[in-house]
Amino acid sequence: MSEAPAQKRLFIKTYGCQMNVYDSERMADVLRPLGYALTDTPEGADLVVLNTCHIREKASEKLYSDLGRLKPFKADKPGMQIAVAGCVAQAEGGEIMNRAKVVDFVVGPQSYHRLPELVAKTARAAGEALIADFAPEAKFDALPDARAVSGPTAFLTVQEGCDKFCTFCVVPYTRGAEFSRPVTAILEEARRLADQGVREVTLLGQNVNAYNGIGPDGKPSTLAQLAYALADIPGLDRIRYTTSHPRDMTDDLIAAHGELSALMPYLHLPVQAGSDRVLKAMNRGHTAESYLRLVERIRAARPDMALSGDFIVGFPGETAADFEATLDLVRAVNYASAFSFKYSKRPGTPAAAMSNQVAEDEKAERLARLQALLDAQQAAFNAAQVGRTIPVLFEREGRKAGQIVGRSPYLRPVWAMGPPSLIGEIAEVRIDSAARGSLSGALGRPTATPPTPRAAALEALA
Ligand code: 5AD
Ligand code: SF4
Repeated sequence: MSEAPAQKRLFIKTYGCQMNVYDSERMADVLRPLGYALTDTPEGADLVVLNTCHIREKASEKLYSDLGRLKPFKADKPGMQIAVAGCVAQAEGGEIMNRAKVVDFVVGPQSYHRLPELVAKTARAAGEALIADFAPEAKFDALPDARAVSGPTAFLTVQEGCDKFCTFCVVPYTRGAEFSRPVTAILEEARRLADQGVREVTLLGQNVNAYNGIGPDGKPSTLAQLAYALADIPGLDRIRYTTSHPRDMTDDLIAAHGELSALMPYLHLPVQAGSDRVLKAMNRGHTAESYLRLVERIRAARPDMALSGDFIVGFPGETAADFEATLDLVRAVNYASAFSFKYSKRPGTPAAAMSNQVAEDEKAERLARLQALLDAQQAAFNAAQVGRTIPVLFEREGRKAGQIVGRSPYLRPVWAMGPPSLIGEIAEVRIDSAARGSLSGALGRPTATPPTPRAAALEALA
């Protein structure tokens, strides 16, 4: 007779990107059969995992201060294990083990399937840093099929790693080379998600549109082909993907945005800067002009496409005129949302060694100007939704009694008064007000079968 494993408490703190959110869920999935259940406080936990991000500076400072905060909890709970996972673990694993005695083990992003063996080694003496073996295939094969999801939306990693080597970025070093999961494995995971009530999947990858996983016919599949196959799964009504590189935005993917209703009209397409000189120094492999032409082609396929971007200000050598070119590009594109950052030196990247670094106060001033422009564009995008009726996938109850919250096709949060039974359903909402980050409105009639995205968008814009 087999005994159910004793209940143990697992606390995971996730920093950084959506792929870390997905990875944290998968770590919980790996540990569940060992009796670990998630808790929302590190106090009294048997295992604490800090799933770290290395993309910008202060990552390791944040980690060490969090580790300091965990010390008293570990003192109060003999046997508590503390693990550092994610990209800081990958980049600085050995140093973390030497410097922070409170850490029991370190585990890099390609080794999460080995967590059970790591937690089994209880004594700190056995602590180890399991990092740097880039074998994403082994990881995905070894992760359990079962996924515990809550709510109607889920992330699904389809691609990992990056071969682009932008000169400012650590990702090619922390996540390794580009790797795409096979189509069949992704479809199986998606079907299991749909069986649990998931209506919307966001396909994740550092370069998700470079996806080229092996299809059932043994040939590489494109992201567009994968999206069509996913859209055939009953119950999966919405498909998103992030993050895309302008160089990998292929014709078939652009065309799919005009034909496939399930593909949502929101695209995160980072450009980073608007000056060709800076783009070249960044090793982006595109110009401002080629990016603008690409946006035109995307909008020709899907006129209501909401675009989002990432920007870096103060890259080494960026002049005032270069920065003005970024503002010009932003004005030309008109973004629905965006993320913008001051350039920060990342150890081991080519840009960190460049001699012409921009002064911090200059970076701060440029960032404030860029963010003011992007904020105004986001507010205008939200304001333009007022008076429209749009389909909202409701995800959860709101803070106020009787309120429910979901997302528009353009990924804007939408609030409405409605019954909790609508959670997991797509319903029409007439938008009556727009705030900085969200919309609110009143429930309307249920959605009918949608026309093609292009036709619907043209009608809405007419
Ligand atoms: N400094 C500032 N921002 C960076 N990003 C990546 N590396 C750096 C860096 N060294 C930003 C880019 C990227 C986003 C995820 O983080 O804009 O698209
Ligand atoms: Fe980093 Fe550039 Fe790769 Fe994006 S494409 S992950 S910014 S190196």
